[in-house]
Amino acid sequence: MAFRHIPHPDPVPADRRARLLEDPGFGQVFTDHMVTIRFTREKGWHDAEVKPRGPFLIDPAAAVLHYAQEIFEGMKAYRTAGGEVALFRAGANAERFNASAARMAMPELPVDLFLQGVEELVRIDRDWVPGGEGSLYLRPFMFSDEPFLGVRPANSYVFCVIACPVGPYFKGGAKPLKLFVSEDYTRAAPGGTGAAKCGGNYAASLVAQAEAAAKGCDQVIFLDAAEHRWIEELGGMNIFFVFEDGTLLTPPLGGTILPGITRDSLIQLARAEGLTVVERPYSLDEWRADAASGKLTEAFACGTAAVVASIGEVVAASGGFQIAGAAAGQVTTKLKALLTELQRGEPGDERGWVRAVPGTRA
Ligand code: PLP
Ligand code: COI
Repeated sequence: MAFRHIPHPDPVPADRRARLLEDPGFGQVFTDHMVTIRFTREKGWHDAEVKPRGPFLIDPAAAVLHYAQEIFEGMKAYRTAGGEVALFRAGANAERFNASAARMAMPELPVDLFLQGVEELVRIDRDWVPGGEGSLYLRPFMFSDEPFLGVRPANSYVFCVIACPVGPYFKGGAKPLKLFVSEDYTRAAPGGTGAAKCGGNYAASLVAQAEAAAKGCDQVIFLDAAEHRWIEELGGMNIFFVFEDGTLLTPPLGGTILPGITRDSLIQLARAEGLTVVERPYSLDEWRADAASGKLTEAFACGTAAVVASIGEVVAASGGFQIAGAAAGQVTTKLKALLTELQRGEPGDERGWVRAVPGTRA
């Protein structure tokens, strides 16, 4: 599809941009442009544009404001050693976006159009991609904008991509995370929307995340909805456990957790290193006992925003515990290095996970 280009008449000047890129934080600094594509049942996808980033004008009866038909993705573009900007497993984000769309009764966006939209934005805002440890966080999303109050899937939608230069997600840097287990609130039930990346899942997680923050914790851990016993995932990350024999364990994808692309990448990278990775339910009680006995040596959170972050302490009403030596976890450190080197386009990408965006060479 041809995108209409409307370059920003007054983009952020280079010296100001350079200052913003020095320490952008996470999700606070935005680039100059955005991409939008519209959908109606009659016309399908149409009106693709790259234009100055700015507010939407939407009707107060727009379906998204009432029934929350909204989905999103989170992905990153990196400046590679070769001087280009590359995307990591962008096709997997496009596919997950469509799985989320299907669950929320929203139209699917052809994978090529999703990728084209993301690449258009990366290309026009390529000067916003930080070097070094930073990256450009891309946020593709879709919402229903049809004005009506009946409860049914809407007939019109907007797809949009915005971008933020980002540094580390956690302010503490590499300091091991302190997590709070929510033993009251759950995130997703079997048959619910847990595997979809929809805004509603995050709305439902915020009270538990706020409780975690009030207890001085970095993230909340959710347990399963049926028994409040099995570890599912964090507010915005998947979780792995590492045992003394070098085996890794991560909760299985059963429809109640997000199928993380970082999770899948780490499973593949770990297996290629000869490590055993088991996907099976793991309870909070087992975790506590294994941490106490020394059988569990490391645990880490992973996701696009967080990358790989070791877990040092767990706070829970039923009894908290520490993971001794978390800061020096060897398996965590090794997997993080393998992943981040690949993402930055170091040689050895046999899987074709990294794709340079044409027209981004500095
Ligand atoms: N789980 C949740 C709830 C998330 O929000 C995320 C982040 O996107 C993840 C897991 C990790 O997914 P990914 O590795 O694809 O970023
Ligand atoms: C991501 O990692 O992309 C997410 O959406 C999670 C959120 C904590 C920013």
